[in-house]
This record gives sequence, structure tokens and C-alpha cells, in this order.
Amino acid sequence: MKPVKPAPQEQAKKERAGAPSLARLRQMVETVMQGGGEKAVAAQKAKGKFTARERIHYLFDEGSFQETDLLVSTRCADFGLKEKNPPGDGVVTGFGTIAGREVCVFAQDFTVLGGSLGHAHAMKICKVMDLAYANRVPLIGLLDSGGARIQEGVDSLDGYAEIFFRNTKCSGVIPQISVILGPCAGGAVYSPALTDFIFMVEGISHMFVTGPDVVKAATGEDVSFDTLGGCKAHAVKSGVCHFVAASEPDCFRQVRELLSFLPQNRWEKPPRVANPDPVTRAIPLLEKMCEMDARKPYRIHHIIWQIADEHKFFEVHAGFAKNIVVGFMRMGGEAVGVVANNPGHFAGALDINSADKAARFIRFLNAFNIPVVTLTDVPGYWPGVAQEHGGIIRHGAKLLFAYSEATVPKVAVVIRKAYGGAYIAMSSKKLASDFNFSSPSAEIAVMGPAGAVEILYRRELAAAKTDEEKAALRAKLTAEYKERFASPYQTASTGSIDEVIEPGMLRTKIIRALRLLREKRIPGTHESRGNIPL
Ligand code: HXC
Repeated sequence: MKPVKPAPQEQAKKERAGAPSLARLRQMVETVMQGGGEKAVAAQKAKGKFTARERIHYLFDEGSFQETDLLVSTRCADFGLKEKNPPGDGVVTGFGTIAGREVCVFAQDFTVLGGSLGHAHAMKICKVMDLAYANRVPLIGLLDSGGARIQEGVDSLDGYAEIFFRNTKCSGVIPQISVILGPCAGGAVYSPALTDFIFMVEGISHMFVTGPDVVKAATGEDVSFDTLGGCKAHAVKSGVCHFVAASEPDCFRQVRELLSFLPQNRWEKPPRVANPDPVTRAIPLLEKMCEMDARKPYRIHHIIWQIADEHKFFEVHAGFAKNIVVGFMRMGGEAVGVVANNPGHFAGALDINSADKAARFIRFLNAFNIPVVTLTDVPGYWPGVAQEHGGIIRHGAKLLFAYSEATVPKVAVVIRKAYGGAYIAMSSKKLASDFNFSSPSAEIAVMGPAGAVEILYRRELAAAKTDEEKAALRAKLTAEYKERFASPYQTASTGSIDEVIEPGMLRTKIIRALRLLREKRIPGTHESRGNIPL
């Protein structure tokens, strides 16, 4: 007998469902994909937030994401958790590509038990961290969580400990990026703090060890979520956060841009890009800037933009310790890190926060084979009791340590001035810098002319009879001192400045130096060092 042909609609439905085993799998996947369900997703949206899967979709190349451990569920039987079977145990893990390069990811799903971290949730994260470590690819964490899952007790605390341990093991081996997209409270903040870069989004990201209620109970201080642990608090005051975004899509764009400057791991170099900007591009403006009165403020960004390929600079930690500027740019198509004093803020003097900021950045660059370009325009260390008692000696030493231990290519330029200890700290020759340039008008000395004259000629100035005489003597001695010491020529005569250059040729000189230094250190041959939070 001829088999009865099913109606076309029936047939299509049957094919979609597939074999019973396939139908079962699809059903299970479909259930997990719903996250915490319609109500929880609506609540998430009402806060202006994306779901975990939407975030991954935005961040990764179209269709490249492959999920792992989708079917993992909790083993905790307390508080009816096993019956609830929280989908994916509140976290999505997996891997995919960003700009064609492999990246591992975990994204906490706030719609499932507030993204709280239980044992299975933690084990999923640990597994994807192990994957990233073993396969030498960057790890991105998208955090949105109420913290330790209260129902699972110490199991969840142990889960955090396992994550912290892996964050430390991965440090300096693969780039680790944390994106805070909701609450991040309690000890949970320490996983991001152990990673290399933290992103926050205005209005939705919060980080604190103890929330406003606990603060109120413990200290009596009345403080809002935002004031205590919002973007501004961490990007400007605490320095915990490196990048602030206006929205989630803006944030993911920034993450992608950051990754474009980074290698996949410590055994590689960052990708080289085609460079349409001529290496020999002269910068006449620099001639004027270098000649400016050394005490006049200006933003160092104007010089960075001038020397970078196509004037593009990706600043890191822009809101924190603005007296030093750090970030990424490309020179001749190669990624480099910039560390630059910024005379536009606190006269560009070094202080506690700027030393910490620069030291950590230099250590990151050194871990990941990225050359350091230093632009020096520094009057010295910021004086005062607050700095001394706050530990400028201890913090300033980190900068010396970071430059001294760095074996990546190091090229430095003195723009207008470099005095005393700050001259040494800003990648001076004897800290094993490879190339040290100076503009012809730069003042390089133990201290500024005005201060030096007061100390060297105290008796002569005291002996002057009238104020006019004193002023004339002071002016004469200052001019003499400037001529003798406050120039780059004494330093060039000892070889501590390799070349006094025409400022307009700065870009060309740096790129030429970096080209020679390209094979200075074979990636991965340096001693492995973690990027400890400083
Ligand atoms: C279990 C949690 C949870 C948690 C939230 N939820 N946090 N479940 N453990 N830690 C659940 C809520 O019960 C709720 O479930 C759902 O997630 C959404 O939470 P809401 O409170 O409705 O959301 P919202 O109003 O946006 O408030 C978010 C929040 C708040 C500010 C994060 O939930 C909160 O304060 N949670 C507790 C935070 C906390 O104290 N965590 C422990 C920190 S100590 P239902 O079923 O109602 O939808 C810690 C130690 C870590 O983390 C140590 C590591 C070393």
C-alpha cells in the first residue's frame, strides 16, 4: 500500500521538531534560553539593561558565540533550589570571536536569582576561565549579580575563592577584562579588581564592598548607591574603574576597541594594522609647544594626538589621576602604550595616584609585549604633608620598579622639562630605557632654576643691599644657571639623552626607534609576572 503523504504543514512541523531525541534537546535549550522568565526579563529591561545573551550578541561577531555548560544545574537542595532549577544556574558561559579573534566569556544573568553566585554558577565560570587559560585567549566577564547566593552558604564563598585563584593564575598570561553591568557587591568586587581592565556603564553599574545600608548602620553615613559605588566614584576617585560608557552598546564598542590593541596572550604581540599615516609626517606645531614657557599648562593629549597614527588615541583611566595620561595608540601600524605627564592637571607633577596608575599600566604593557612610549614634561613630585603621609615614597617606588623591570621596548622624550627624582622616574636612560630623546629647549636638571638659585646663592642674595639689587642678581644668576644646566646638552654629553631632536620630527624618530627595537624581546621568553593590582 502506498504510504499516506502527510499534509505539507504537518511535514514541516515534524521536520522542525526532528527526531524525538532532538526535540527533547531543543526543548531543554529553549527553556534555558528563556532565562528567568518574562517577568524577570521585563524587570531587567525596565532598569535599562540588556539580558546576558543580548550582551553577548552585541559583543561578539555575529553568529560566532558557542555556549558551554548550558545544561548545568544546581545540586543545592536547600530552600527548594533544586526544584526551581535556575536556568543555566544564572550564568551564560562560552566562547566566540571578536573581530575574528577567539575570546572566552561569562555573562551573569540577573534575571535568574539576581545573577547570584552559587556553586554550579561558580564552577561554570571556573571552567571557562580554565579554557581561556589553557588555550591562551582573552577572558571577558560580564558581571551583573546580587553576589554570593545566600541559599548556598559557604559553597558560594568557596566559589568566589576559586574564581579569585584563577584570576590570579591568568594574570599576565591572558588579558582579562571585567565589564560591570549591574550590581557588584561584597567580596564579588575582587574578581574584577584582580583583572586588567574594568568597564562601567553610567546609571547601571555599581561596585562596593558594603552597600549603603551597611554603611549607614556601621558609620551613620547616608549615601546613595551612585555616590557610593557608581561610575564617577570609581572612575574619578577610587581609580577602580578604567573606562566609563554612556550605554551598553557604547561599552561593548569600547571593549572591542581595547581588544584591538592587545595580543591574545603573553606569547604573542598585538596585531599589526595597515598604516596609511606616513611615518615621516612632520609636526610643525610641536616646535611651538616645546618652546612654550615651562610653567604654562597645556593638555598633553595635544601632543599624543599629533604623534599617533591617524591622530587616534585610546585613553585608559581618563578620569583618574589626570596629571598622568596613559593609553594605547598605534605608531607605524604597531600598538604602543603611552605614559605621559600632563601639565594641564596639577602641573603634571607626580603624586601617589599618578604613580600607581602609570606603574600598573606599564606592568600590563610589559606582560603583554607592548612597547612603552614615555612623554616627559614634569616639574617634580607634588609636595605636601598629605602626599608624604599618604605614602608617596612607597607609591612612587612602584613607578621606578615598573620602568626598571620592563624589558619591552622603551622610548622616552623630554618635551619641556624633567627635574630631579621625577626625571629619573619617567623612563630615564639609567632605568634601562632604550632610546631617550629631548627637544632642544628642554630643561633637564636636579631642580628648577628659580629654586636652585635660592639654594646655591643664598649668601650672595642675602648680601644684596636693596630689593632692586637682589632682583637683578637673582635674574642674572637664574639666566646663568639656565644656560649651564637647564638645557638637554649636559645630559646629551653624558649619553643619558641619545639625541636632541627637532621637535617636528618626533613621530618619525619614535617610530624609527621602535622599528629597530621590534625584536628586542621575543614574546613569551620574559619571566612570567602577574599584573598585581597596585
Ligand atoms: C540569592 C538573590 C541575591 C543573593 C538578589 N537575589 N541577590 N538571591 N542571593 N545574593 C534575588 C532576589 O531575591 C530576587 O529574587 C532577585 O534576585 C532580584 O533581586 P531584587 O532585589 O528584586 O533586585 P533589585 O531590586 O534590582 O536589587 C538588586 C540588589 C538586591 C541590590 C542586588 O537584590 C540585594 O541587595 N541583594 C543582596 C545583595 C547582597 O547582600 N549580596 C551578598 C553580598 S555578600 P526574586 O525571587 O524575588 O525575583 C557577598 C559575599 C561575597 O557577595 C564574598 C566573596 C568573597
